[in-house]
Amino acid sequence: MAHLISPSLLSADFGNLQRDIEMINNSEADWFHLDIMDGMFVPNISYGTPVIKAVKKHAKKPLDVHLMIVDPDRYIDDFQKAGADILTVHYEVCKHLHRTVQNIKSKGMKAGVSLNPHTPVHLLQDIITDIDLVLIMSVNPGFGGQKFIPNALNKVKELKQLIKDTKSDALIEVDGGVDHTNAKQLIEAGSDILVAGSYIFGSDDPPKTIKNLKKIV
Ligand code: DX5
Ligand code: ZN
Repeated sequence: MAHLISPSLLSADFGNLQRDIEMINNSEADWFHLDIMDGMFVPNISYGTPVIKAVKKHAKKPLDVHLMIVDPDRYIDDFQKAGADILTVHYEVCKHLHRTVQNIKSKGMKAGVSLNPHTPVHLLQDIITDIDLVLIMSVNPGFGGQKFIPNALNKVKELKQLIKDTKSDALIEVDGGVDHTNAKQLIEAGSDILVAGSYIFGSDDPPKTIKNLKKIV
């Protein structure tokens, strides 16, 4: 499958959110990436369900919601009602990950599991056939605009092999510090979806930056 681009709204202009949503609607981007931070799991607070609802009203593409929060089970219903199409939780905060994943899927959403830079890929071995997507963090979660951690590339390769060996349908998404210097390698290593925030919204011509990320391989 051709790779997908999921621009992260964390780097959008919140005073002009509808304008930035329309920009993504009219671009070659595939999804909207929405980062939810609680100031507990990560040292930053972003936004919650009211913003997701507002985005949903205008977005013409799926909402890819990345939960960086402790105890995500408490909010699965709320995010489904707010309009999430893909709901990703962090491996590091789920005591009963299998139950969490089944719960997300039973609400009609795609279920994703994210790994922090220090969390090994092999820990997903017994859940990989149950999940729709794995989100490899290529920065420590919490902030946009950080530097890409090169080991993420090894993790993508290892994950691709695990997916192949287990005949899983899981997609591989990479998030953090993605730009023109690493996008090609990430796709060639097996990434299906690239998230990019500051690289897109900080560029002079965001639709063109998205277009360039789409045609990178
Ligand atoms: C970081 C978030 C990312 C962030 C990426 O914790 O999960 O989605 O917005 O931003 P960039 O592309 O600027 O690293
Ligand atoms: Zn994210």
